[in-house]
Amino acid sequence: FTAKLDASDIEKGTYPHYMLKEIDEQPLVIRKIVQEYRAEDGSLHIDDEIVAAMKESDRVYIVAAGTSYHAGLVGKQLIEKMAKIPVEVHIASEFGYNMPLLSEKPLFIFISQSGETADSRAVLVNVKAQGYKALTITNVPGSTLSREADYTLLLHAGPEIAVASTKAYTAQIAVLSILAAVTAKSRGHEIDFDLAKELGIIANAMEVLCDEKDDFEQIARDFLADTRNAFFIGRGIDYYVGLEGSLKLKEISYIQAEGFAGGELKHGTIALIEDGTPIIALATQEIVNLSIRGNVKEVVARGANPCIISMKGLEMNGDTFVLPEVHELLTPLISVVPLQLISYYAALHRGCDVDKPRNLAKSVTVE
Ligand code: AGP
Repeated sequence: FTAKLDASDIEKGTYPHYMLKEIDEQPLVIRKIVQEYRAEDGSLHIDDEIVAAMKESDRVYIVAAGTSYHAGLVGKQLIEKMAKIPVEVHIASEFGYNMPLLSEKPLFIFISQSGETADSRAVLVNVKAQGYKALTITNVPGSTLSREADYTLLLHAGPEIAVASTKAYTAQIAVLSILAAVTAKSRGHEIDFDLAKELGIIANAMEVLCDEKDDFEQIARDFLADTRNAFFIGRGIDYYVGLEGSLKLKEISYIQAEGFAGGELKHGTIALIEDGTPIIALATQEIVNLSIRGNVKEVVARGANPCIISMKGLEMNGDTFVLPEVHELLTPLISVVPLQLISYYAALHRGCDVDKPRNLAKSVTVE
């Protein structure tokens, strides 16, 4: 299956599931985002008033739920590393209304594919009542979180029908990267790479991965077919992607999966490792490549079944899959694709309803 369809087409077409179609649409969406956020002079552009709000803020609070929260964790790295603004990321339902805001000029960023998540909206209402400024990053123009915020940035991902979010997650990260880069420039921090070009490289690399579905179906069969639990480990930004991978697997295959910071396993959770426990490890960051591999050795010594997904240039013998090389700040856009596909095939193998998992709704409009 190759997504020739325009990302806004809501029919499944020749796809067996919306989720598979939406995974395949990700390269189209990344290219569309670059196109939508390009100014006439070819540079990437964000509305001046949003850049001004970012530029003036002394602390950004990202508030979101589920997959959007996981995108927010990546957004923290992007904004802090490129724009040098401190960022806090909060699960919407955990955002204490009387928490001390340690800043004079906070800016709140709400990330929400649907723009209707009640947990997130409750926080938006509260911060607006206190007179703070809010930006919503959403896939739905005119949604509640968009209408009630001061500013909106759209994902341009087209309708996302599957309950398990895929193309919205990568779209959120792409838009956050553009926001971070444009803000950086406005604050005099030139970034040392061409973001539009890197996003184009990433769209091409996503297409390569989407054409290797047989590999991911095999990995799902080898590691996840009959397991009752699984761990996703990584360090730094790979840890954040591991959280997203574990949510994908949980919500569509019902396997008890956990995303874990690689270095943290030995402080207790390693007690859960048994013979054959699948451990999916991400290794895309040079600075922690050897230490995450040390963590894999610790769990293999206790019987775990390791699946190492590494980035070209960092690969070692025995790795299960090697990702095409992309800029180290943007690796989540690539490393999440195998996790989305492995989860899809694991759910399929277990006869689960991939697009409409039990107990779940596409938009959680109750608190
Ligand atoms: C993601 O796969 C889930 N369906 C869910 O966690 C979702 O990300 C969460 O409910 C937030 O939704 P939103 O992005 O529409 O606010």
